[in-house]
Amino acid sequence: MKTWTLRGATTSYVVGVPDHGQWAQLVAWGPHDGLAPVEVVGTEHFLPRADVEPLEYAVRGVRYAAPVDLVVSSAGGTDEFRPVFVSATEDDHLQLEFADTVNLVLHYRMVGDVLERWVSVRNDGADDLTLHRHDSAGFVVPVGNTVKYLWGEWNSEFQQASVTLPRGRFTIGSAQGITGHSYSPFLATDGEVAYGVQLAWSGSWEMSADVDTTGLLRIQAGRVSSSQGIALEPGATWVSPKAVGACSAEGADGLAQVFHEYERAASRRRTPKVLYNSWFATEFDIRAEHQLELARRAAGIGVETFVVDDGWFVGRSDDTGGLGDWEVDPAKFPNGLDGFIGELQELGLDFGLWIEPESVNPTSRLAAEHPEWILRTPGLEPVLIRNQLLLDLSRDDVAEFIWTTLDRLLSSYDIKYLKWDANRPRLDSGDQRRDLDGLVVGNLYRILERLRSQHPDVYVEGCAGGGARVDLGMAARVDTLWPSDNTAPLDRLRIQEGFRTGFAPHLMSSWVTDAVGTHDGRERSLDFRFHVAMAGVLGIGADLSRWTDDQLKAATRHIAQYKGFRELIASGKVYGLAAGVQYVGEGRSVVFLWETGDGNVRGTLPTRRRRVPLAGLDPAKNYRVGDEVHPGSYLLQVGVAFDGPADSRCLIVEALD
Ligand code: DGJ
Repeated sequence: MKTWTLRGATTSYVVGVPDHGQWAQLVAWGPHDGLAPVEVVGTEHFLPRADVEPLEYAVRGVRYAAPVDLVVSSAGGTDEFRPVFVSATEDDHLQLEFADTVNLVLHYRMVGDVLERWVSVRNDGADDLTLHRHDSAGFVVPVGNTVKYLWGEWNSEFQQASVTLPRGRFTIGSAQGITGHSYSPFLATDGEVAYGVQLAWSGSWEMSADVDTTGLLRIQAGRVSSSQGIALEPGATWVSPKAVGACSAEGADGLAQVFHEYERAASRRRTPKVLYNSWFATEFDIRAEHQLELARRAAGIGVETFVVDDGWFVGRSDDTGGLGDWEVDPAKFPNGLDGFIGELQELGLDFGLWIEPESVNPTSRLAAEHPEWILRTPGLEPVLIRNQLLLDLSRDDVAEFIWTTLDRLLSSYDIKYLKWDANRPRLDSGDQRRDLDGLVVGNLYRILERLRSQHPDVYVEGCAGGGARVDLGMAARVDTLWPSDNTAPLDRLRIQEGFRTGFAPHLMSSWVTDAVGTHDGRERSLDFRFHVAMAGVLGIGADLSRWTDDQLKAATRHIAQYKGFRELIASGKVYGLAAGVQYVGEGRSVVFLWETGDGNVRGTLPTRRRRVPLAGLDPAKNYRVGDEVHPGSYLLQVGVAFDGPADSRCLIVEALD
């Protein structure tokens, strides 16, 4: 067998092609000093060998009964192909090429400890081909059969769950043309050596975990297309999105850190400014004078960017109209948007604007002028959700309209922050002969990339009715993401805990609002709410006109403290603690502790001192925590005290030389 080793920072991935050249298979994947080999021993009965070997990418025609990653049919009538290994290229990444009518190239690139994988499929025959199943990769996971995943719904995203598969299959995905609230494209294993797989795609997708009859776990990740499949003409090449696999010898926290590092490397990593967003305070009731009243209060507590959310444009007094007609409503901004921005700037605030460019209300002028731009399935009424339809972003003229709308707004006004929202799934299939999902997501990505290159100063927040478009594809193209519309303290904390298992803190936009829990309605202090939001990219969304002087003073203190460590939050290693989270940087940590139970939050019960062991410290060093100094070993084993009545704490832990 010929083998290739992809060496990461702490882990390696070894892939091999047996001498017969019929497939590539995993040889080993794990920490450098404990590479877990994968091999099948014994003889197979009743099945071809390809059905039991740890295949890297399984083509129907090579493998039959076990799960396959590529199913292609030809106009000639077959769906079995047997591409054979022809060559390996090792330049900026490893490429393993297999040739047949279906020419298949497996691509591999190690970034940190994250292995990027994707495939390209070329039609080398004379007949048209159709791709029916077209995964980005199959990841054989050497150890473990408990698979962790993130599920949710609107207002309750990133809930953590797991399933143990002695044998059998577990599948998650989205058929919504958007990543979705229901599941994140993320699967991970439990255990000291943890493995995880993510898919970098913001359309429809599917991921499966399959434990075969030998007990081996294999995770498949890929796009899904319509029942018509994706057409591939002779000579044409289709390229999958990337799926990434990561491994860490430091369990779930280590795995999350590996993903976070990867996401940071792909981002522009600019210091996030503290923002105020008026959505929760005013919803559609936008009046410049009232917004300025909020802005004055926001500036007073240390906010740096003021974002006007949904409702600033003509025809938008509620969610039944306006989308598509992206003109500033003069009734709401009597001195024009420029005048409004000028007033914000006098207060020392940058200006940010909300937009939902992929959508259109049927009552809008745009819908009347360009009915052909609306995504619809021939012969059917398009599906209306939140009173809105989608523009057909697979069309280049629609993509150009969205780009020119954004470019016009960003060039006409001094906009420093853009919140890009998407409040409905894509359900209508349009003309199924086209690869709608691929074309739409491709155009979305191109617009986001163009935004970055032509308006590099604009900080972009990705949002989709809360967290319906959180994935590595977006993480590489926006500055931050909005995980959920649920900002109630205990609910939000749970959402954030799930979010950070796969996504880095610089991507976790988080606001302090007045919201009470949708799921867990128990009250928590303002400090608690701030500490939850300070664990990501801090924003304020409360109605500040109702806050008391004491609340505003507390907010000022928290915002000032956050500014002192926000870089560490965005770049530190994140560790989950028994009652909180710790961000570890060079010689300095930020620790947040939260009382999440019924607990002794009011201090009315006698109780024993509660201690929370810390993480990521050097046991041999001494650390200052507030007024106290402790050895690292003590803080790691015994921990810091966390008693009521305070229901949360923010501690700075500093190493002494
Ligand atoms: C959904 C978003 O998640 C909210 O933050 C807000 O922007 C609304 N849309 C506005 O319609």
